[in-house]
Amino acid sequence: MTETEALRERALTTLITARDRTTLLTSCVEDPDLTAQHSPLMSPLVWDLAHIGNQEEQWLLRAVGGREAMRPEIDSLYDAFEHPRAERPTLPLLPPAEARLYAAEVRGRVLDLLESTAFHGSRLTEAGFAFGMIAQHEQQHDETMLITHQLRTGPQALTAPDPKPAPLFTGPSEVLVPGGSFTMGTSDEPWALDNERPAHRREVASFYIDTTPVSNGAYQAFIEDGGYQDERWWTAAGWAHIRKNSIHAPLFWRRDGKQWLRRRFGVTEVVPPDEPVVHVCWYEADAYARWAGRRLPTEAEWEKAARHDPAGNRSTRYPWGDADPAPEHANLGQRHLRPAPVGSYPEGESPLGVRQLIGDVWEWTASDFLPYPGFVAFPYKEYSEVFFGPEYKVLRGGSFAVDPVACRGTFRNWDYPIRRQIFSGFRTARSEAV
Ligand code: AVJ
Ligand code: FE
Repeated sequence: MTETEALRERALTTLITARDRTTLLTSCVEDPDLTAQHSPLMSPLVWDLAHIGNQEEQWLLRAVGGREAMRPEIDSLYDAFEHPRAERPTLPLLPPAEARLYAAEVRGRVLDLLESTAFHGSRLTEAGFAFGMIAQHEQQHDETMLITHQLRTGPQALTAPDPKPAPLFTGPSEVLVPGGSFTMGTSDEPWALDNERPAHRREVASFYIDTTPVSNGAYQAFIEDGGYQDERWWTAAGWAHIRKNSIHAPLFWRRDGKQWLRRRFGVTEVVPPDEPVVHVCWYEADAYARWAGRRLPTEAEWEKAARHDPAGNRSTRYPWGDADPAPEHANLGQRHLRPAPVGSYPEGESPLGVRQLIGDVWEWTASDFLPYPGFVAFPYKEYSEVFFGPEYKVLRGGSFAVDPVACRGTFRNWDYPIRRQIFSGFRTARSEAV
């Protein structure tokens, strides 16, 4: 198989995987749950569904295929910049049956186009980039829709097997990442998005980083120690935010006597102490780290821990090397509807022994979302460029809810520091004492 044939095959399978997931997420509840807004932070599920189809039509059928718009009148309804999420339920959206049909019609034509498109000749078609971008876009919305499902109240609609119980993790709690420069970002990953490019050298001083994400048990110690009542641990903005909004624990947690309960996809359970903490905002992650005498890793530190192979002195695609993620490496793709216990996935660890960098929970970093030197917006400014600046913090590594196609050692996610409906956790770091 030539490289182009392999990419074409990958485009096909990733588009199919994404649509299977979309179909599940939009068929496991009745129509009223698709058109309802379950949280002002989220779109109605039926908006995501037609938006997925509309982006696919715009980028593949129109931009790549040169076709006419199928339904030009709906473009503006599904333009994320024209209508903020809170306003989307009031729009004359396509009802569920029509949205499904529209997305399916687009997809049928896309599969024909995929067969006839040369994977070179323009930047959009080079290595099948636009097809990869659209498969990633759909998977990103599949994670968004899973967040909507988590926010929805009502009986359980989704099930999945739990990850395996915690293996005994006997490694150290932190490792030293020696100082020196490494290659951050990528110029040769064919479907990497604009904000991951270009590859460039970054100098990083020696630092220690946790070998696993922070667990619920560790986070509970912060709560029990009065962490939410002690201003010393919080930035001014963080303290103001948790006071104003009466935040005392991660989202979805509820105290029941001595124990903490939480609701996950319609089921209440005791918070499992050995799982990575999830649904914390940046302010909470930052405060916990300060309480622990530590700090959040910078984005460059995180990527160096995840990609730098000291033996080969080069950056790999993933912590475990260059192989595409397989189930033994990481908890990705909604195979499980929760993070795996800390210390899981020994086969996914980095050369220095850092685990679960990929999958399980998105990890907050200390860094603002900024362009790399030499950044060029492609194919549209509204994917990354309009978000660059100090108001967004970078998250790395992906969660259990994101598919491998949209998760790499270089992949960058970002959100406001107050957000915690996302599948966000963190690990901590410290500078090496000099
Ligand atoms: C990269 C996850 C921040 O959901 O806002 C989806 C991805 N961009 N459609 C988002 C995205 C356009 C984006 N994040
Ligand atoms: Fe989108």
